[in-house]
Parts: sequence; C-alpha cells; structure tokens
Amino acid sequence: MGISQTENERPMVLETKDLTIRFGGLTAVSHLNLQIRKNVIYGLIGPNGAGKTTVFNLITQHYKPTEGQVLFNGNCLRKEKPAQVVKMGMARTFQNIRLFTGLSVRDNVVIAMHMRLDVSWWMSMLGLKSYQKKENAMYEKADKLLKRTGLYEFAEHEAGSLPYGLQRRLEIARALATEPELLLLDEPAAGMNPQEVTELTKFIREIRDEFDITILLIEHHMSLVMNLCEEITAISYGKEIAHGNPEDIKNDAQVIEAYLGVDKDAKGK
Ligand SMILES: Nc1ncnc2c1ncn2[C@@H]1O[C@H](COP(=O)(O)OP(=O)(O)OP(=O)(O)O)[C@@H](O)[C@H]1O
Ligand SMILES: [Mg+2]
Repeated sequence: MGISQTENERPMVLETKDLTIRFGGLTAVSHLNLQIRKNVIYGLIGPNGAGKTTVFNLITQHYKPTEGQVLFNGNCLRKEKPAQVVKMGMARTFQNIRLFTGLSVRDNVVIAMHMRLDVSWWMSMLGLKSYQKKENAMYEKADKLLKRTGLYEFAEHEAGSLPYGLQRRLEIARALATEPELLLLDEPAAGMNPQEVTELTKFIREIRDEFDITILLIEHHMSLVMNLCEEITAISYGKEIAHGNPEDIKNDAQVIEAYLGVDKDAKGK
C-alpha cells in the first residue's frame, strides 16, 4: 500500500473493530475495521445509502453499535455521550450545514467553544465575574481562530449571509473551536462549485498541518478525495469493499463497479 515505516509508527488515533449496527432488519454498518493514524487525512467513500454517515454517528457516539467497538486514542468508547466525546477531542461537521444563520460569524465560533469549556448558560445570565473573564478570553480566541481560517474579515457578518463555500468553512472553524485531535467531515464539498472544491481541498490540507490534527472525511467529489486523502476505505451496503491509497482505490474493480461507475460529480452533488 506504499505506507512507509515512519507512518506506520504514528500513534493510532481512531480504530473501529467489527463495528456493526442494525436497524430492524437492515444492517447499515457491518463488521467495519478502520485504523486511522495521527495526522492522516483518511477518506470514507461509498454510494448513497452505503452507511457512511452512520459510521460517523457510531464514532461520535450518536449511535451505539449492535456489535463491535470504537477506540479513540486507545480508549474504548461505550457509555460516553456525544458531548463528552467532543471534550475528549473529537469534532464533526454534518452533511447539511448547521449554523446559527442569524448570528454573527464570531458568535457562531464562540458558541462552539462553549462545548469544550466548563461554562454554562446560567453563568452568563448571572453576569458572574469569573464568567466575564472566560468570555473575554473566548472572544480573543475566536478572533484568533477566524484569522487562522481566513474568516476574520467576516467576523461581524451574519453567518447566513456568507456565500456557500464560506459557510462550509465556518462550519469547519466551529468544529476546530472545540480543539479537536480528530476532525470528522461529512461531505464538506457537497453543493460546491469546482472553484470552491479546489479552495476547500487546499484549506483542509492547511488545517491538518497547522492544527496538527487527524481528519476523517466522507466525500462524493472524487477529485477532492483522490487529491487529499492518503488512505481510503470504500464501503457498500455497510461493508468494506476496498482499502488502500488513492491509486489502489481508483483501480479497484469492486469500487469501480459499486461507485466510480456512477459519476456523482456530474450530477452536481
Ligand atoms: N436511525 C436510523 N434508523 C433506521 N435506518 C437508518 C438510520 N440511520 C440510517 N439508516 C439507514 O442506514 C442506511 C445508511 O444510511 P447513511 O445515511 O449512513 O448512508 P450514507 O452512506 O451516508 O448515504 P449518503 O451518501 O446518501 O449520505 C440507509 O439505508 C439509511 O436509511
Ligand atoms: Mg451521508
């Protein structure tokens, strides 16, 4: 697979072992084994309905598996709730944009920061001094993050007024605001035009390097996946059909049949 020794020695950030979930009679994810090492940009691909978002929901503990395990930094996640997993260092974006469209770009980031810090809404209501201090620090941190993600000039703008590509970027900035080690991106390029896809590809690589994180992403845009991901797992009907580097995946007969034969980019997805 062309992975060098040094890459193999990197610590394992995320592992799934025989990960399986059934909804009634439907096995949405079946015995999936992923091994994702630190600083890798890892792709999860597959046709519509293959189970990709369900894999994310299992990793982030929105769903609990019927069988199998999720290990994050070697710890098996069992009883943890999604909010706890965020505090442990895992952040995600969703397939459909989730922003507070009526609030400013800066406030969107500050709200995301609350997820990680021990501050509750009632502390802000009471105007506690200790809270005030934390809040000032948060606004400073938010501005720093907006600068690092190229959004600072839009800090005062309403999130909903931003062009689509920048709204997607803001979503990623909000995920970064929780200071993750592992970032999960569910179709970050969905609905983007080719130029936006090119910019996003560059942006994802930059944040991996600058924030020293590991990234797992789901995408239908093959140009983005093949340019960006160092390792890829392809699934169909919840099961792995191929695993390897972009070259392996491009040439895999099962992937071509199940997935690459359908040109989703052409459909504007
Ligand atoms: N909570 C649930 N209850 C029942 N079925 C579910 C649930 N969540 C997902 N499914 C089913 O699991 C299968 C996989 O869905 P999933 O959303 O994970 O696919 P996907 O690969 O993300 O597809 P897409 O590319 O369209 O986003 C689908 O058949 C879906 O209907
Ligand atoms: Mg999905």
